[in-house]
Amino acid sequence: MTELKNDLLLRALRGEEVERPPVWMMRQAGRYLPQYLELKAKYDFFERVQTPELATAITLQPVDLVGVDAAIIFSDILVIPQAMGLEVLMEEGKGPSLPQVIKTISDIDNLQTGGVEHSLRYVTEALSLTKRELNGRVPLIGFAGAPWTILCYMVEGKGSKTWDKAKQFAYTSPELAHRLLQKITDITINYLIAQAKAGADMVQVFDSWSGSLSPADFKTFAQPYLLQIVEGVKEHVPVTLFPKGSWYALEDLSKSGASALGIDWCVSPQFARHATGNRMTLQGNFDPSKLLAPIPDIQSAVKEMIDAFGTRRYVANLGHGITPNVPVDHARAFVDAVKSYKAPQE
Ligand code: CP3
Repeated sequence: MTELKNDLLLRALRGEEVERPPVWMMRQAGRYLPQYLELKAKYDFFERVQTPELATAITLQPVDLVGVDAAIIFSDILVIPQAMGLEVLMEEGKGPSLPQVIKTISDIDNLQTGGVEHSLRYVTEALSLTKRELNGRVPLIGFAGAPWTILCYMVEGKGSKTWDKAKQFAYTSPELAHRLLQKITDITINYLIAQAKAGADMVQVFDSWSGSLSPADFKTFAQPYLLQIVEGVKEHVPVTLFPKGSWYALEDLSKSGASALGIDWCVSPQFARHATGNRMTLQGNFDPSKLLAPIPDIQSAVKEMIDAFGTRRYVANLGHGITPNVPVDHARAFVDAVKSYKAPQE
């Protein structure tokens, strides 16, 4: 194993003292870099995801071009529905769609949960190849979608602002919803362990749509499965949970055994620190749209953010994915502002 030359992220996850916080950006691989758009023009989405050499090249781009302190493997959360036997289409400008939505108990019972090491081998191969190419420069992050977020796509069949069909399914057929959530959880645990074995230094669980649930419904349909994932995976690799919009769950999740919690920009650093009893490493929470502000404003907002979170037990990041319209020099200004952070003098 090559030793890591930059292990800031892993030290922050362990709560150790760091010279400065590590920084990476959600959705940094893909989306906004011109070098990504060149590959996007040549190969379709799942070809990029399923070809380890392409996935590796895209994963390395933000490390080489923007100077982030971690790489996140280029893939998608919807490889899990594919591995379970559902078709997933990715149409330019329309986002993902799943033609066969889940409705009945037999739809659920027909879903595969085994053999993820085989069906998602292209992901573990991409991780191993990326690990080799990184040669210890920065840690490598693996990921999966959280069970609730994956259920949303499986039931709704496409993206939604309200996820009302997914919620209708959960509220009218809770037994079926739990049966489905458990199957997704089982395969996700195996998938994340396979990612750890292939070289992932941290794994992040994206609960992108958990904020569509009320606090009580989050406790019913999201939290138990997030806890199972942490329990099943944490011996193998540190786990970061990102329950977007679910500020109300931070206290409970701070007791989950996760190494870090991702925070969106609608939560103040003070609230998040208080809710998690200063126990946890927190990750976030720069408003991605603020990367469109003038560079001096980005720099001062980054300083304010780090002043508020503190440099210890903190991973600088955005509060959600970077958007495709962010100029590269603004993304770089964000990263550089974290790297040149100086703590206020006592
Ligand atoms: O961080 C990274 O950049 C690694 C790669 C990554 C992708 N998807 C590549 C991608 C990651 C971490 C994801 C996660 C993902 N995918 C999430 C959770 C994170 C979040 O933003 O909430 C979700 C909800 C999805 C589902 C998904 N995939 C959607 C809604 C879309 C369409 C619109 C978009 O860009 O978000 C995708 C397609 C997708 N996945 C693209 C990329 C780079 C864009 C299509 C393309 O470039 O061809």
